Amino acid sequence: MSLPRVMIVTGTDTEVGKTVVTAALAATLARQRTVAMLKPAQTGVGPHDAGDADEVRRLSGVDSVHEGARLRDPLAPTTAARREGMALPSVLEHAQKVHTLAASHDVVLVEGSGGLLVGLDGHGAGLPELAAELELPCGFVVVARAGLGTLNHSGLTLEALRRRGHLVLGLVVGSVPQTRGLAEQTNLESLEAVTGAPLIGCVPAGAGSLPADEFRSAAPSWFGPPITTA
Ligand SMILES: Nc1ncnc2c1ncn2[C@@H]1O[C@H](COP(=O)(O)OP(=O)(O)OP(=O)(O)O)[C@@H](O)[C@H]1O
Ligand SMILES: [Mg+2]
Repeated sequence: MSLPRVMIVTGTDTEVGKTVVTAALAATLARQRTVAMLKPAQTGVGPHDAGDADEVRRLSGVDSVHEGARLRDPLAPTTAARREGMALPSVLEHAQKVHTLAASHDVVLVEGSGGLLVGLDGHGAGLPELAAELELPCGFVVVARAGLGTLNHSGLTLEALRRRGHLVLGLVVGSVPQTRGLAEQTNLESLEAVTGAPLIGCVPAGAGSLPADEFRSAAPSWFGPPITTA
């Protein structure tokens, strides 16, 4: 499968490692392509804090990182914006930003907030609606946990994507512990069968704490096809 121009990184939950996976994808793809990254809505940060886009820049070395909106409360963007009385860009505006970035980069990575159905605009529309507005080939990467519960969360996320007709590139486990317990071991063996989606990457626990140069040189080894064959 050749990679689509737009790759949307979602997760089975918040704090599953989407940012670390996005940075690893950026570092890997940037070896042969120009890469841009967009975080449509960043919550839980003040004006001078580092957000996910900053973390992707730091780890991957990709400089073209962008934030659509920034909100202080560590909540879903739609909720945080309502509490702050702030107007968020619509998903159509987020999609237009993706088109603008795609005009000057080979690949655009988009990192959602929390899980798939979390709203990114003022009306609760999120990544599925943003993807539907795109006039470019796009595919989803689903970041999942390694531990107990991930088979159900991953299966639900894949079902929701398929029901909406979106292309799924595959699953990436965001943080694989060095010593795997019974659940981590068996989950890695079962994820593909349970979800019907390929496991296209496994990022080791601790990767986000590596020095940036080590992160960048190791990142390609965490992925298989279709990322490595692109
Ligand atoms: N492979 C990893 N190595 C080291 N740290 C990790 C790894 N995966 C996740 N983490 C850490 O776990 C926390 C959550 O990860 P991350 O920020 O990537 O989650 P997320 O899915 O992007 O969450 P959000 O929904 O807030 O965007 C962070 O502190 C991150 O540094
Ligand atoms: Mg993140």
